[in-house]
Amino acid sequence: APVTLVMGIESSCDETGVGLVRDGKLLGECLSSSMSEHVRFGGVVPEVAARAHLEAMVPTVRQAVERAGVSMSEIDAIAVTAGPGLATALQVGLASAKAYSLSLGIPLLGVHHLAGHVAADTLVHGDLPDRSVSLVVSGGHTSLLLLGDLARDPIVHLGDTADDAAGEAFDKVARILGLGYPGGPAIQRAAEDGDPDAIRFPRPTTTRWGFSFSGLKTAVARWVDRCEGPLPVADLAASFQEAVVDVLTAKAVDACVSHEVDTLVIAGGVAANSRLREVAERRCADAGVTVRVPPPYLCTDNGAMIAAVGSMLTSVDAPWSPLELSTDPSAPL
Ligand code: KG4
Ligand code: ZN
Repeated sequence: APVTLVMGIESSCDETGVGLVRDGKLLGECLSSSMSEHVRFGGVVPEVAARAHLEAMVPTVRQAVERAGVSMSEIDAIAVTAGPGLATALQVGLASAKAYSLSLGIPLLGVHHLAGHVAADTLVHGDLPDRSVSLVVSGGHTSLLLLGDLARDPIVHLGDTADDAAGEAFDKVARILGLGYPGGPAIQRAAEDGDPDAIRFPRPTTTRWGFSFSGLKTAVARWVDRCEGPLPVADLAASFQEAVVDVLTAKAVDACVSHEVDTLVIAGGVAANSRLREVAERRCADAGVTVRVPPPYLCTDNGAMIAAVGSMLTSVDAPWSPLELSTDPSAPL
């Protein structure tokens, strides 16, 4: 396959990410986050994120290109997140990608954000097998996916969340426990001093591979409301985290076994959770499944993962996206 240098641009939520990948190898990347601007609102505000992307885009591209040790003129293709994500945030990345594509005279490749999360793993652990299952868990999504070739085959959704995403549940429960935003890392830290079996929270479920977390969040809120005396924050955090991890890992392993797939990729911001990694590794080992988790800097939204998909697309000569490419904010999550 021809060696191709792809620049990936990600702007679906609050991270402006740019990465450069040549033939499946990450050369350099840069990330600019507007997370701190959303803290006082308790969640990402689309208009605030969009303006931050606009301000960050060009400096982030310049920095990524410099870190990669390449020049703009060497770039062979631009990959960009087309969706799903926040519409106004996506538009900034897409408009920027079109401008680079047009001015450099190189192809534009629209990329599915979830394919990006999965592809991130290939940057450190190499090619994926022909078939795999992926659990993508972040602030915006909770999906169990059946994957073939990321560049050629459609992504099959085995199950999604019926309400809150897993990361959203971490964020909301952290708020209930007074632990701040983003909630995932705060809960993980608090849980280190707690007993995961202290409180038996419900393991809510919908379909065989579907999820639901709003009932669990309500159960924590109700427990806190009823609590007299000081809150056992560490035990609450550990018990809540255990309920989420238990459901996620049980269903992911079941999906692998029933589809006769021997590789599970866990991706998205929540994949950074150390308890999730630990339980997933134990349960997967028991089921003869290899679990792959990208390092934390590739788990959260970033541009390298979009460039990774772009690199796969160019390697199979996938058709270019037209300059009329539109965002797809609600592409199946
Ligand atoms: O992938 P990501 O950066 O952005 C989205 O696409 O949403 O994921 C962010 C989410 C947040 O909800 C955050 O609380 C969660 O990932 N998160 C974690 C951890 N680190 C980040 N959740 C649990 N444990 C963690 N260590
Ligand atoms: Zn994401």
